[in-house]
Amino acid sequence: MWDDLRAHHARTGRRRFETLFDDRRAKDYSVRVGDMFFDYSKTNIDAEARALLIDLLEQAKVAERREAMFSGEAINETEGRAVLHTALRNLDGGPIKVGGQDVMPEVRTTLKRMETFAEKVRSGAFKGQGGAITDVINIGIGGSDLGPAMAVRALSPYHDGPRGHFVSNVDPGDIADVLRRCDPATTLVIVASKTFTTIETMTNAHTARAWMSEAVQDPAAQFVALSTSKSRTEAFGIPAERVFGFADWVGGRYSVWGPIGLSLMIAIGPDAFRAFLRGGQEMDRHFRAADWHENMPALLALVGIWHAQVCSYATRAVLPYDNRLGRLPAYLQQLEMESNGKRVSMDGADLTVQSGPIVWGEPGTNGQHAFYQLIHQGTRIVPCEFMIAARGHEDELHHQQQLLIANCLAQSEALMKGRSLEVARAMMEKAGLEGDELERQARHRVFEGNRPSTTLAYPRLDPFSLGQIIALYEHRVFVEGVILGINSFDQWGVELGKELATALQPIIEGKKPGTGKDGSTAGLIDYLQRHGA
Ligand code: F6P
Repeated sequence: MWDDLRAHHARTGRRRFETLFDDRRAKDYSVRVGDMFFDYSKTNIDAEARALLIDLLEQAKVAERREAMFSGEAINETEGRAVLHTALRNLDGGPIKVGGQDVMPEVRTTLKRMETFAEKVRSGAFKGQGGAITDVINIGIGGSDLGPAMAVRALSPYHDGPRGHFVSNVDPGDIADVLRRCDPATTLVIVASKTFTTIETMTNAHTARAWMSEAVQDPAAQFVALSTSKSRTEAFGIPAERVFGFADWVGGRYSVWGPIGLSLMIAIGPDAFRAFLRGGQEMDRHFRAADWHENMPALLALVGIWHAQVCSYATRAVLPYDNRLGRLPAYLQQLEMESNGKRVSMDGADLTVQSGPIVWGEPGTNGQHAFYQLIHQGTRIVPCEFMIAARGHEDELHHQQQLLIANCLAQSEALMKGRSLEVARAMMEKAGLEGDELERQARHRVFEGNRPSTTLAYPRLDPFSLGQIIALYEHRVFVEGVILGINSFDQWGVELGKELATALQPIIEGKKPGTGKDGSTAGLIDYLQRHGA
């Protein structure tokens, strides 16, 4: 199948895909879920390519794997775990069994506990030692930070709870800047860590506790833990009533839907949080039921596979024309790259195709004034994934939203159509140039075009549509992983750096000699020690 796809690409890769447009293409190469609309017609995928890509889904048994995931089978084979973040948004769905036991009663009980606690914090019934909570600091990293941090920013128009802050980096500057803005007597600290062992998070949690203990009698009373580890949260001194647990079948980068989303729930309230879960659930239902031709996550995945594995484009840019999605590219970097950045397949054999691509991006229009130059005229092709809302939240500034929309659509149009040398020459002629100078200047103004992009459009960035978007990308990653034969749910590639950092710490602190280190590392240790405090 890969060979057929490559042969098809070899045959068609040089044509201008703009010529594929007839009066049906835009409709045939777009899909809806509720009010959400995904257009992939501005790519070189034609009917034959799409049929071959859909064959890949069949060949990889994506439908069977999808059902195995939703029904709680241990599809994370290297860790022997089920993958059930979908259970966290299975609001009115049926039972889901892991090891013969229905997990839904526990999911519902935890959600209710979170809601009761969030309401108490928001109403002022839960107090700090200096009065009602004014600030909430979420301390976590990776999936225990990116999800809630991204979503709190995305949903700022719905924010009516205490101020929210996020501390993730072990860099002392991160926590120092946040603590400086907060009053310890009215601050709630949420320690978010699935394992409750992550060095950055635990170091920051201890720093926050020391900061608080200088101002209040009982700092632990203003701490909450979100974790799978009861024993470690207890050892840290956080009482069980303020620990919100979850099972090991919730992967870190898929965890915003459960307790790790507590800071989001406190910010926007339980009702809006439920709307977020409903958006995710609607995407789940669509993903499970829709034919492949109409299946938004599957089609997004196939476009991804086409560009990364068939066309060999190394990266893809995520370009939300929605400033509040400013953290979405970082969130998707973890979701996509930690999930599918792997060089061996499930059975340990080397992959025979490229692993998942490098994902990066920034909101438009800012990116236009930074890196779009390369996207339009660089020698590398970067498939672009645009996102745009029909409406913003600032009705009085609707004209700015319209300008934003115009910019978004202009970019995908420019990427596809480009500007020919003839047109550029005519422009230079009109500007009064002639001869060699005209030719030289014209060449700088050529846009090759024929550069692919997709556009995801939605009515407005509200809790429901954000839930849809996140679940859409989760399932996209899942489908791509199944096609590649990867386990998308482990992350062994982050371990080695952690081990080496642990071994280096006493050397940096001067407690152990750095013998045996390579020359480069030894030289850097020497420099940093000599210039340190
Ligand atoms: O280092 C990677 C990682 O394990 C991520 O997968 C995870 O989201 C992050 O660290 C944080 O882990 P924890 O929630 O256990 O602190």
